[in-house]
Amino acid sequence: MDYPGFNGFLGNRASFMLDVVFLAMFVIVPVMGWSIYQVKYRQQYLLHKRVQISIGSVLLFAVTLFEIDMRVNGWRERATASPYYHALWSAGWVNWSLWIHLTFAVSTSVLWVFVIVQALRKFPRPPRPNEYGPRHKIWAKIAAIDLCLTALTGWIFYYLAFVAS
Ligand code: HEM
Repeated sequence: MDYPGFNGFLGNRASFMLDVVFLAMFVIVPVMGWSIYQVKYRQQYLLHKRVQISIGSVLLFAVTLFEIDMRVNGWRERATASPYYHALWSAGWVNWSLWIHLTFAVSTSVLWVFVIVQALRKFPRPPRPNEYGPRHKIWAKIAAIDLCLTALTGWIFYYLAFVAS
């Protein structure tokens, strides 16, 4: 089918950027898990800092390109062939899964900026635990879980909108 924008490479109806973000989350989530393991069990604070900032930058870059693709080319035409699609924004599993996904995606973006900025301000350089550690652990855990839920709900939306037929 001829859709607006570049087609993806995974052999379904998704656009190129949808495929990039879909696959990127399979890399980013395990890398974040590894980074948390490094700080928790190996006290690799500097490695953890570098990996978390890199993940944050990659996410920001990918999400910006992705947002441009969605604003310019849209995604609805690509989803109309799905049995779960409904043209009304408040109906059908495609729209519902998107609303749920957006809730996690938006809160994740805010939390990640907050956690990284606060960590940069309050931990010494090079980083090591101080009196800010317990607070960082609480907010960082919420941010990490939020990212996992963003990925999970994103994959579900991707399947319902662009794979199911
Ligand atoms: C969104 C980004 C980040 C996430 C999701 C994250 C996640 C975490 C988590 C879950 C822990 C607790 C591990 C445990 O249970 O022991 C932790 C610890 C730590 N993180 Fe991060 N982190 C992030 C960014 C950063 C940055 C940018 C820095 C440095 C500037 C940093 C420095 C530390 C330090 C020093 C600890 C040890 C705290 C302590 O043991 O008291 N983190 N991080």
